[in-house]
Amino acid sequence: MQKNLNTRVFSIANQKGGVGKTTTAVNLATAFAAIGLKVLLLDLDPQGNASTGVGVSNKKRIFSGYDVLINDVEISSAIQKTIIPKLDLLPSKIDLAGAEIELQKCNIKESVLKHKLLNIKDNYDFILIDCAPSLGLLTINALTASDAILIPLQCEFFALEGLVHLTNTCSLIKKAFNPTLHIEGIILTMADRRNKLCSQVELDVRDTFKDLVYENTIPRNVKLSEAPSHGKPALIYDSKCLGSMSYILLAKEILTKMKILNDNENSYEKRQESIR
Ligand SMILES: Nc1ncnc2c1ncn2[C@@H]1O[C@H](COP(=O)(O)OP(=O)(O)OP(=O)(O)O)[C@@H](O)[C@H]1O
Ligand SMILES: [Mg+2]
Repeated sequence: MQKNLNTRVFSIANQKGGVGKTTTAVNLATAFAAIGLKVLLLDLDPQGNASTGVGVSNKKRIFSGYDVLINDVEISSAIQKTIIPKLDLLPSKIDLAGAEIELQKCNIKESVLKHKLLNIKDNYDFILIDCAPSLGLLTINALTASDAILIPLQCEFFALEGLVHLTNTCSLIKKAFNPTLHIEGIILTMADRRNKLCSQVELDVRDTFKDLVYENTIPRNVKLSEAPSHGKPALIYDSKCLGSMSYILLAKEILTKMKILNDNENSYEKRQESIR
């Protein structure tokens, strides 16, 4: 496998539940893989929804993050292929919940994942970590191992308050373990511009976080919520639905902002064609 010396590790995190972290992780990972980027989706939530979302049902999961973090199973043996070419998965099983407690006994309990990733990091362009809705040790391990955080944010009343906790945690981890950690961007999810409150929250978030908020938002779209029950990312389940199109636009914006893509010769569409 070709070595990649410029791997980006992103945590998809927000301690608030149900804001679209997993939907974002699964569909962004698929959108990146669709243009030939080599992606590892790391399911760090004991709920295991990201694993299901890329077609790796419970009974197909061999090892989990628990085996890697606690049982010293080599990470490369725990990674599985998915139905999507170029997209690998480190699955989660419910046993991962026990890692929160077991990690307490480790020497540098915040950096266990970071050290485990060293062995395989170079094999990927992107490692996307789907975090659980908490700021416990698993999420702290994710943030310590990451270059940056992508924050899905649902446009509702308490959205900004939750962000304060997350940005404080980010600052603490930056100081103690990971000086280059930063917020890569904020993704507005389940957006509904006909809803006044939603539009007002969007304005407030953009006013507070300025350029950190991606222009492309993810609308509420039923196909996005149906896709996991078919064991497929929405981008595979219905590539033309509004939800899928929105995630492709978001992927393009993220990659363009990072200068991995540009609008001309290295566009998303051209790269997609070239790997067909
Ligand atoms: N844009 C959307 N439109 C409609 N439904 C959505 C959208 N995004 C996510 N959902 C649905 O909302 C629910 C929560 O989404 P998701 O699981 O992605 O959130 P989460 O932040 O990962 O949740 P948790 O905190 O429990 O891990 C799921 O049923 C999902 O299918
Ligand atoms: Mg989730």
